[in-house]
Amino acid sequence: MKPPSWRQNLLRKGGFWRNGHWYDLHVERRMPLFLPMLDEMATALPPLEAGTAVCDLACGTGNAAFTVLMAYPTIHLTLLDEDPALLDIARAKVSEFDPEVEVLQATVKADGEPLPGGPYEVILASLALHVLVGHEAEGAEAESRYELLFHGLRDSLAPGGHLLVGDHVGTLGLFRHLKAMERAGFVDVDCAWRQDDFFVAGGRVPE
Ligand SMILES: C[S@@+](CC[C@H](N)C(=O)[O-])C[C@H]1O[C@@H](n2cnc3c(N)ncnc32)[C@H](O)[C@@H]1O
Repeated sequence: MKPPSWRQNLLRKGGFWRNGHWYDLHVERRMPLFLPMLDEMATALPPLEAGTAVCDLACGTGNAAFTVLMAYPTIHLTLLDEDPALLDIARAKVSEFDPEVEVLQATVKADGEPLPGGPYEVILASLALHVLVGHEAEGAEAESRYELLFHGLRDSLAPGGHLLVGDHVGTLGLFRHLKAMERAGFVDVDCAWRQDDFFVAGGRVPE
């Protein structure tokens, strides 16, 4: 197959975001707050003991999983995404450090159903939720889709389990994220970090 024209890279909103190798090469320079956001997600977590079940939801090329694995190398990772090519890259990235990594190819819907492969003790959602809810959703519609998605994530976590969300505002503002998490039954809901339009928020399921 012929490669697409390089000029796609030169457009203001251009690029090849669905190509995992291109994504890893470009994401830092096109989204300078992406790596700080991942660091903030890892540092916001409580210490993770050996065997802690951590799911990287809509993991793409696995950068959130990799960041947390570098901090806590004895966790047990599950990589979850619908795209098999991205899952291959994510698996290659983490398997040297977590040879037992689970890889799940699944399409997640914001319909309140729990994630496959759970229950988890930690769910990482890096640039994931606005994609699962759908870029086109806005206003009250976006808010109710997020709430339903949070219900499903709550039911995917073991008692006391944590959800860490790193994202940019746009589909839903940060305050509304936090309120939707609370309505879905999360406790200890708070924002750990915000810079410009990027943020890290989290919460946990009651014990
Ligand atoms: C913006 S990327 C974020 C990737 C990664 N979490 C990161 O921070 O770099 C969104 C990811 O969501 C995945 N995705 C989109 N819709 C999905 C769905 N309904 N179920 C599972 N994965 C989905 C895509 O394949 C893509 O890897």
